[in-house]
Order: sequence, then C-alpha cells, then structure tokens
Amino acid sequence: MPDDLDGFVVSVVRTDADLLDALAVRMRVFVEEQGVPLELEVDATDREALARPDAVYLVGRLHGAAVATARLLFEPHGEPGAMPHIGRVAVLAEHRGRGFGAAIMRALHNEARARDARAVTLAAQLHAMPFYERLGYVAHGPVFLDAGIEHRDMDLALTPDTPA
Ligand code: COA
Repeated sequence: MPDDLDGFVVSVVRTDADLLDALAVRMRVFVEEQGVPLELEVDATDREALARPDAVYLVGRLHGAAVATARLLFEPHGEPGAMPHIGRVAVLAEHRGRGFGAAIMRALHNEARARDARAVTLAAQLHAMPFYERLGYVAHGPVFLDAGIEHRDMDLALTPDTPA
C-alpha cells in the first residue's frame, strides 16, 4: 500500500454540500467514465441519504477537494438482518493507485464495526475484484449483470484481523 495519504481525509457525509460532493465523484466515475445511465446511478437511497439512519455515506477529500466516495447500507433492499452492503465505491481516475480507495474501504469497515456488523458484502465489478481481494474479500456465486456491467458478489468477515 503506498504510504502517500498526506492531505487525504475521509469523513461521513452529514450535509447537503457533503452529499453533493460525493455524488459529483460518482457522476464523474460511473456516469461519465463508465457510461452508467444517470437514472440508475442515483437511486431512492441517495435521494433520502441524509435522513436515513441505515445508510452511511463517506466522502474522501484531497486537500479539500472531493476525490473519492462510497456508501454502506445496513438494511439493503429493506431486509432486516441482511449483511450490510457496500456500494458506489469510486476514486477519480487521476487519483487512483495512491491508496485512497483502500482508505475509504477501511473507514467503511470501521463504520460497520461501530454498529456491531460482523461481515459486509458488495457486488464487485469484475475488474475491481483484485482491489477487494487485497482487502480480504472473498467472491462467491455467479457473474451477473448490473447496469450492463459484469459483477460478482464478495463478502468480508470483520474479524479482529481485518485490516482496520
Ligand atoms: N486491479 C488490481 N489491483 C488493484 C486494482 C485493480 N483494478 N485497483 C486497486 N488495486 C490494488 C492496488 O494496487 C493496491 O494494492 P497494494 O495494497 O498492493 O498497493 C490496492 O488494490 C489498493 O489500491 P488503491 O490505490 O487504494 O485503489 P484506488 O484508490 O485506485 O481505488 C477503485 C480502486 C476500484 C475504487 C478505483 O479503481 C475506481 O474508482 N474504479 C472505478 C470505479 C469502480 O469500478 N468502482 C468499483 C465498483 S465495484
């Protein structure tokens, strides 16, 4: 892991301005770069993000400018007891490979632990699987399409050994 996180700060989204910053990163990465339709990228959870006690959104800023984001849903699809679900993990292209993605994932793991979660799950785009594997995630199940992009489910047990 590059030790180059100077000036990169991860915080929980708490204001409209924070949320707009997080969504702006997603627009750049998922809509502009990957071609995900806007109406699929922004969902009902995003529209209620600040009011939902079951959702944690993070924004990562480099010297104050938003460059990364991710979210954690504690009751994905309204299913009580389901594993918390991480999604919308994105780092602006020009800032990749500097450990920011891993840092935002570790911050989400800590948010999950703070709410007594013992594991987290996500749907990984196939190209991103090595990134999640580096963090300890294990893939299972078949490849499936979401927004026209190939994904696989991956889980991580939040044991004391999980990278903080
Ligand atoms: N393939 C292989 N390894 C990768 C990788 C990839 N695509 N992306 C990151 N890694 C590795 C890094 O080499 C690094 O390894 P190290 O610990 O040995 O140094 C580790 O994963 C952490 O990398 P990091 O620099 O923190 O990742 P990043 O800031 O570049 O962010 C993504 C990774 C996936 C979030 C970023 O590439 C991205 O935003 N992609 C576009 C959006 C996307 O596809 N999101 C995932 C949706 S499921």
